[in-house]
Amino acid sequence: MKELKIAIQKSGRLSEHSRRLLEECGIKFSNGAGVLKTTSTNFPVEILFLRDDDIPQYVEQGVADAGLVGENMVEEKGRDIKVVEKLGFARCRLSLAIPREEEFTGPDWFEGRKIATSYPSILSAYLKKNNIKAEIEEISGSVEIAPGIGLADAVCDIVSSGSTLLTNGLKEVITILKSQAVLVSNRNISEKKTRTLEKLLFRIRAVKNAKENKYILLNAPEKSVEKISEILPGMKSPTILPLMEKGWVSLHSVVREDDFWERIDMLKEAGAEGILVIPIEKMIK
Ligand code: PRP
Ligand code: ZN
Repeated sequence: MKELKIAIQKSGRLSEHSRRLLEECGIKFSNGAGVLKTTSTNFPVEILFLRDDDIPQYVEQGVADAGLVGENMVEEKGRDIKVVEKLGFARCRLSLAIPREEEFTGPDWFEGRKIATSYPSILSAYLKKNNIKAEIEEISGSVEIAPGIGLADAVCDIVSSGSTLLTNGLKEVITILKSQAVLVSNRNISEKKTRTLEKLLFRIRAVKNAKENKYILLNAPEKSVEKISEILPGMKSPTILPLMEKGWVSLHSVVREDDFWERIDMLKEAGAEGILVIPIEKMIK
């Protein structure tokens, strides 16, 4: 098999975003309902649609060469696979939650209680580390319902928006692990597949960089250019174009999304006018 087999979640929190990421990397594939395996028409990958819980195992065994999966699953399954890159989406946390009406007294609250979870390995490590003796009730889904039906006293499950906890009358009391989607790979893939994986990684980084940055254009008096350039580190240094109006220039650069608003304020103070901020589609560093 020459194509790189890449596993993504069939349906769930990660699936939509995983498909989109591959599409944004320019990889075309058919995406019909019920399709479990498809080959891209323009990139040497075969995409397998699997349960996210199974992805670490399949990647370790080489059934898939690579996969997009949550760090939570990688950690829980403890498989010998390589985490190639953090992807910055599907951010969530693995938390302990208890019925809303309970008074939380600290980690001791869990002593002697029963906790329902799909993460027995991470949970038992946490309990052990904190010297708490509690019973773990392993279930594979709909964990949040467990206290409501008398199956357990508490849950240890993934929280993203928190709405599942809320609708089930639970409150989050301890965060055990923070997670996001990652690209993982098998440790022994062929040279050819390694090259494909590197190509894919290059594209993933370009998409990620683009999302983390914005293109910025502004007008400024010539005398402020130096000061403004310091505020805008950009990719290398800003592009400066003369304006028709004497003594004025147009400055083009790139700003990071995370400190974007602070930079805008600084730019205004330094004399910038007519600031335009534009999304970037791909960014190759
Ligand atoms: C998790 C968890 C909750 C939901 C929480 O499911 O089990 O059902 O997400 O999200 P919320 O805080 O936004 O309501 P996940 O997709 O991780 O599990 P699955 O793969 O077993 O379906
Ligand atoms: Zn799952």
